Amino acid sequence: MPGYYIWTIGCQMNKAESERLGGYLEWLGYEPVSRPQDADLVLMNTCVVRGNAEQRVLGELAYLAGLKKRSPRMAVAVTGCFVDPGSGEMQRRFSQVNLSFPAGKFAEFAQWARERGNGKRADAGQLALSVARPSPAAFVPVIQGCNNYCSYCIVPYRRGREHSRPLAEVVAEVKALVRRGVREVTLLGQNVNAYGRDLPESADLAGLLARLNDVEELERIRFLTSHPRDVSLEFIEAVASLDKVCEFMSLPLQSGDDSVLRKMRRDYTVEEYRRLAEALRSRVPGIGLSTDVIVGFPGETEEEFQHTVMAIRDLRFDTVHVAAYSPRPGTLAQRTMADDVPQEEKERRLRLIEGLQEGIAREVNRGLLGRRVEVLVERRNKGKWEGRTRSNKLVFFADAADRTGDLACVEVTSASPWSLQGELVSAARVGVR
Ligand code: SAM
Ligand code: SF4
Ligand code: F3S
Repeated sequence: MPGYYIWTIGCQMNKAESERLGGYLEWLGYEPVSRPQDADLVLMNTCVVRGNAEQRVLGELAYLAGLKKRSPRMAVAVTGCFVDPGSGEMQRRFSQVNLSFPAGKFAEFAQWARERGNGKRADAGQLALSVARPSPAAFVPVIQGCNNYCSYCIVPYRRGREHSRPLAEVVAEVKALVRRGVREVTLLGQNVNAYGRDLPESADLAGLLARLNDVEELERIRFLTSHPRDVSLEFIEAVASLDKVCEFMSLPLQSGDDSVLRKMRRDYTVEEYRRLAEALRSRVPGIGLSTDVIVGFPGETEEEFQHTVMAIRDLRFDTVHVAAYSPRPGTLAQRTMADDVPQEEKERRLRLIEGLQEGIAREVNRGLLGRRVEVLVERRNKGKWEGRTRSNKLVFFADAADRTGDLACVEVTSASPWSLQGELVSAARVGVR
């Protein structure tokens, strides 16, 4: 049997797509191998959100060029955001690459992989449906691309415009996943609240959540990532009223300063964001909030940065992902704004936010000490069972039995800024959140 190896970096969308593509390759008769040098087909699923991600892609491409000299039968395919749909220069620039295809455009890959495989399957089948690893939690991409063009962001240039999957297709896929043991789905989109806007049918994310809430044996529903501008009060009501929709939202703030937000083209003010967070917390008690922040955006002054510090201090997020601004080719910021915050200063600001958030997350998590939480057990990790609460807290506990897929009631016994440790109380479904 031909072997395949998939190298993946980047966001959850890439991870979900790699799983999907791996599932498809196995369906075609390929088998997974643990090292690229043992593979007949190497697939790179790439990210270019910041310069350092792009450097890693270039490093892997160079490494594979070396491997290929030694094993010429190896074929290399590249997808993800390194592939620029507007330029066909990949194979010319990188002779080690046999095929490249833009993120989410699987048809060409399907045909190519089929021809290279052992030919057992003649029909490409429904690539979108051919997956499902036996994990209790699965990612389901529901909308590709992004129409927002935030001034720093390369994603719309690489993933194209918003393109939603039909509602019936998503529901059918989730039902199929549930039949294979999945108990939690996370609906994915760069801007998941835009789901349905481009569909001829009248569909939106709240409607999709309501439909999935009726799927029997599905226990939990999550969604990622929400643009603050697109989260309405009606949507918050839907989250509050649907029992399977988890109390968690990823709501990138990006900056705590209105002038920087304007230059970023985010389309909301800090005050609007605060009101949104308040509404969420009052309507959805116990909701976990995660955010993304960029420091060192072009022209960001110390005062503007301090506004971000204040926002992080006040809003008390559960998780904050901080990134130093990195100019990306073709974006408005790269074309029109000087990258004028020195690298050391960006790093200082980054460490400052990280340190501040570490303290906040420690306090927030300590607040859960002694509480009982519901954990969907996903896997074994370093001798413990690992899973998440509905509010997306990572929890570890010990138990001799196999707990994969269980909804466990766990009492929290210790808390760090990044995770909780606990003791198993019972492994049946319990009425705690
Ligand atoms: N769609 C999501 C959103 O609206 O925020 C996530 C997009 S991006 C894949 C993930 C995060 O990377 C962003 O939230 C942003 O904080 C960060 N990011 C994007 N472009 C960046 C850049 N040029 N420099 C630094 N960080 C960047
Ligand atoms: Fe990028 Fe903005 Fe779209 Fe998120 S919403 S993917 S940050 S352009
Ligand atoms: Fe990276 Fe593209 Fe995701 S740039 S973060 S893989 S959308």
